Amino acid sequence: MTDSSKSEFHVAIIGAGITGVNLALALLHRGVRYTIYERSPGYREIGAGIGFSPNAERAMLRIHPEVLPAFKRVANPNGKDYFQWIDGCRPDDLLLCRLFVGENGFQGGRRQDILEEWAKLVPRDTVQFGKEIRDIEEPEKGPLTLHFQDGSTAHASVVVGCDGIRSRVRQLILPPGSPAAHASYTAKYCFRALAPMSAAVASLGPYKPSTRFMYIGPGAHIITYPVGNNTQLNMLAVVSENGSPDPSRWPLAPGSHHTAPSVREELERAFTEECGFYSHTVHKIVRLFPERLDKWAIFDMAENPAPQYHRGRICIAGDAAHASGPHLGAGAGMGIEDALVLSEVIARAAGGGEWLVEKALEAFNSLRYERTQEVVHMTRESCELFHWRRPEVSGDPQKFVAEMERLFHRVWHYDIEEAIRQALSIVEGHKAGRL
Ligand SMILES: Cc1cc2nc3c(=O)[nH]c(=O)nc-3n(C[C@H](O)[C@H](O)[C@H](O)COP(=O)(O)OP(=O)(O)OC[C@H]3O[C@@H](n4cnc5c(N)ncnc54)[C@H](O)[C@@H]3O)c2cc1C
Ligand SMILES: *[C@@H]1O[C@H](CO)[C@@H](O)[C@H](O)[C@H]1NC(C)=O
Repeated sequence: MTDSSKSEFHVAIIGAGITGVNLALALLHRGVRYTIYERSPGYREIGAGIGFSPNAERAMLRIHPEVLPAFKRVANPNGKDYFQWIDGCRPDDLLLCRLFVGENGFQGGRRQDILEEWAKLVPRDTVQFGKEIRDIEEPEKGPLTLHFQDGSTAHASVVVGCDGIRSRVRQLILPPGSPAAHASYTAKYCFRALAPMSAAVASLGPYKPSTRFMYIGPGAHIITYPVGNNTQLNMLAVVSENGSPDPSRWPLAPGSHHTAPSVREELERAFTEECGFYSHTVHKIVRLFPERLDKWAIFDMAENPAPQYHRGRICIAGDAAHASGPHLGAGAGMGIEDALVLSEVIARAAGGGEWLVEKALEAFNSLRYERTQEVVHMTRESCELFHWRRPEVSGDPQKFVAEMERLFHRVWHYDIEEAIRQALSIVEGHKAGRL
């Protein structure tokens, strides 16, 4: 196999999460051959709900004509088209402020429902399950060789690591000993659960569970929104660690756990005793969590960012490249934007030789690096604001909403068309020998 013709050109996608599946659909739509290699035995999403920001929806529209409709089929209708923040430290549910999300914007859904709906669009013979990448050989000329844990191998013209926060592909493209090999603990942990809507309505009344709310206070917050066509309430409670975090508790070693068994009392204690949440609604929400549950450490790549997202004909995208916390609801959207830009430059470089593929990945890196790094940092910043770490802002709803507008709008108002234009003009420039 060589890269000499477009028909021989083949992309290896590592990982069948949101980023990998969207990249596959984008390449499918552009007539570029690919194979997804996924470690798990099937499509699998862990965690409960997820929401997609307006910029993510705009990217979906261009990935493949069926991607946005598939998401909308399983997305939950908004009760109100607003994010609404409530002061969690008062008993009376004082509404601090709200932010318009656009008509039917920022809808949520169950992760598994969304991934399954997209997976239906991926031809079965383009995915291989049970394939965990171990190593990649990159000769100067000719195809790359992929080595999997089961001893098997495969070939490709280009490899894209969409293998998540603990990416193996990232480790393979970094210099040995790079601190970016592992994400780091953000000193925040979370509890996530789905409650039956009937129980949520019995406890909170019909309005609160019908739409998106965020209860904030010093050191913690809870987000709730309906999923599964209003049959369940998705709940995410985030707590800031008191004092300095103990790194031995959430070890970075591969295979170590970023979750730990917990009980509801721990969540209750964190909100009431440690953080002073007096909202009756928050107490009721906490009681909707199961008595036994896991807590999840929140990791990101803010402290040790990957210096770049590519090396030769290998690159990384989505959480593999720039994992962020959940606080702005932006991480998966970044992976979808990556997938779109990558598919465009790869399609343009396909069949043009090894050097052009490298230039395409370089163009992807130069257009996406700043954008995605900024989102990692803004995500951290938003949580500091939710947790009242800047008292002059949190004490003043007007200042708080101005900050929210600044952060969320920065994520939402991204001109992906312009990014694609610029990336393609770099590739075209190389093709024409102008650069
Ligand atoms: C609590 C929480 C809430 C969130 N809420 C939102 C939200 O509302 N909106 C939003 O936009 N983002 C949200 N995010 C972020 C979002 O979940 C991630 O950005 C997104 O899921 C990343 O997708 P991905 O495909 O890049 O990686 P992943 O989903 O991690 O997928 C990686 C895939 O690669 C596979 N894999 C891993 N290693 C290998 C290997 N060596 N070989 C082969 N396959 C491998 C894995 O099995 C997996 O299928 C949230 C995150 C958290 C933690
Ligand atoms: C969602 O629920 C409503 C009312 O409960 C029902 O009419 C509708 O068909 C459901 N939609 C889907 C997609 O299941």
